[in-house]
Amino acid sequence: MKKIAVLTSGGDAPGMNSALSAVYQRCQLLNIELVGVMDGFKGMYEGDYFTMTQNDVDQISSMGGTILKSSRFIEFKQEDYVLRTITRARKEGIEGVLVIGGDGSFRGVKALSEFGMNCIGIPGTIDNDIPGTCYTIGFDSALNTIVEAIDQLKDTARSHHRCLIVEVMGRHCNDLAIHGAVSGQVDGLITSDMSVDVNKLSQTLQDTIEEKGYSIILVSENVLDVQVLAKQLEQISKVECRGIVLGYLQRGGKPSASDRILATRCAIHAVNALNEGMSNACTCLQNNEIVLEKIDKALDVDYHNKGIYEDYKWLR
Ligand code: F6P
Repeated sequence: MKKIAVLTSGGDAPGMNSALSAVYQRCQLLNIELVGVMDGFKGMYEGDYFTMTQNDVDQISSMGGTILKSSRFIEFKQEDYVLRTITRARKEGIEGVLVIGGDGSFRGVKALSEFGMNCIGIPGTIDNDIPGTCYTIGFDSALNTIVEAIDQLKDTARSHHRCLIVEVMGRHCNDLAIHGAVSGQVDGLITSDMSVDVNKLSQTLQDTIEEKGYSIILVSENVLDVQVLAKQLEQISKVECRGIVLGYLQRGGKPSASDRILATRCAIHAVNALNEGMSNACTCLQNNEIVLEKIDKALDVDYHNKGIYEDYKWLR
């Protein structure tokens, strides 16, 4: 291939820039011109792209966010948008596209591939909601942010004999919550696959307060309102409770070493795959190897290391 494009799409994730930098380096070695697309699929549709140079990627590897910016472009679900995007890209001589993003972005990879533009996905999202890969780029960094936040929240909870109920991101995936619960050693965890009995929870909370004087409960996003739960628990248990939403804190910041490594490995394999004519697939980490998985399979299979869910039960 002589010319390919790269874009970042969906929620920004630490490590997206590390992936961009490695994509650039690999392209240089293969004599491929790399076109950077601004604002995800929206920029691709509007033709907002430029030829990337060493200057663009210099020192970005350690930076959070994405230098190419990102967007959620729902119009890309429509066939005519995909077709117009491909026509425009072809006119520019673009022969293939790399997409760094999460599951929504991978549907864009599928659409481009099915309409004839070779396309490969690189899993970049803090949510870890692509089942075909053990970890997505950004997950480890977000998890580290969560653990640091839990450590700090424990100081205040302990000092005031309080219960802090903390909501973490993940959209509909419980991985950040469960991994956060294990690494942060919290007292309670509420995920989407659990039913919440406020009376029972209140009893457990009272026991925990009696035993150690404070409590931290972690809650997955989109399960319940942490402020409402805090009020309910406070009324029943008479323990002071507060609800906290960690929010965008989890998306920002420098990528961890682990995410930089994963990003670099995925980028190398993605450029190679595109250059070898592969399409409609994404890079996945399985058994510590980077493999290429068809998009449908990567989004559907249940490869995920569910073991941690089982291990967590041994703590409670
Ligand atoms: O996909 C990353 C993520 O941060 C999710 O955890 C969250 O549900 C969502 O994005 C928030 O989206 P937005 O930034 O569009 O509000």
